[in-house]
Amino acid sequence: QTEPQTVLLDKRGRVGWITLNRPRALNALNTELMNDVVGAVAAYDADPGIGVIVITGSEKAFAAGADIKEMQPKTFSEVYTEDFFADWDRLSAARKPIIAAVSGYALGGGCELAMMCDLIIASETAKFGQPEINLGVIPGIGGSQRLTRAVGKAKAMDLILTGRTIGAEEAERSGLVARVVPADRFLDVVGEVADTIASKSLPSVMMAKEVVNRAFETGLAEGVKFERRSFGSLFATEDQTEGMAAFVEKRQPEFRHR
Ligand code: CAA
Repeated sequence: QTEPQTVLLDKRGRVGWITLNRPRALNALNTELMNDVVGAVAAYDADPGIGVIVITGSEKAFAAGADIKEMQPKTFSEVYTEDFFADWDRLSAARKPIIAAVSGYALGGGCELAMMCDLIIASETAKFGQPEINLGVIPGIGGSQRLTRAVGKAKAMDLILTGRTIGAEEAERSGLVARVVPADRFLDVVGEVADTIASKSLPSVMMAKEVVNRAFETGLAEGVKFERRSFGSLFATEDQTEGMAAFVEKRQPEFRHR
């Protein structure tokens, strides 16, 4: 009997879905799953028919963390020389927007995976936390940096030092998630948001992601200059011509993603 695949892939229109699929381990992120996720993201990113990527899990768990059973026997030398978890950085190289659709547990590496995405949509059942401190370690896939940038020092210290879990409402209040959605409409709403973004002009969507992310990497004056240059460059696209003509002619634009 072959092992089930660790991710399920499904193209729906211009949206590329990636569903984490290790239900018996609550989608714990082992090396195989990491390679499958980053491979799928890279493939969708290169696919001209895809405008947006969605990463989701099951109703019970987005992902309950890095795979503790895989990590348990490792030594310092192994973790250091293998640069364990470094391949997750490849996810950040994606240039198309990635939505994390979180239902149930997003703990440890699961929370970190969600934060590597560009926008988090949470079901009201979602639970976020960085419980690594309970295992005698600390976040290892960017959590200490991305959580602090997302929710500020006070909340990040609270979550990372105590290991406590927060619900969707507190996560939204803290600025970690973009929207909280009723459980029974969760995937429908995610699909609607993804379709909305996928219907926009791809060059402007990709550039929008790039300029917002620049806010985390650079100072204000540099960032504003980068935005202005990027804004100007979109006037070289057919979609800018179409988008503005459609407004003036009081009709819907027909973007051709170029
Ligand atoms: N790694 C490996 N296996 C995991 C796992 C993980 N992170 N989380 C859950 N599982 C496994 C359990 O071991 C269990 O397997 P068995 O049936 O073989 O025992 C199965 O998934 C179901 O889990 P539970 O029986 O525990 O389910 P529950 O509903 O009682 O509890 C839970 C759910 C509260 C999420 C609990 O599973 C839990 O606390 N999981 C670990 C959470 C955690 O500590 N995450 C951080 C990991 S470290 C990390 O992520 C490092 C980093 O920064 C990268």
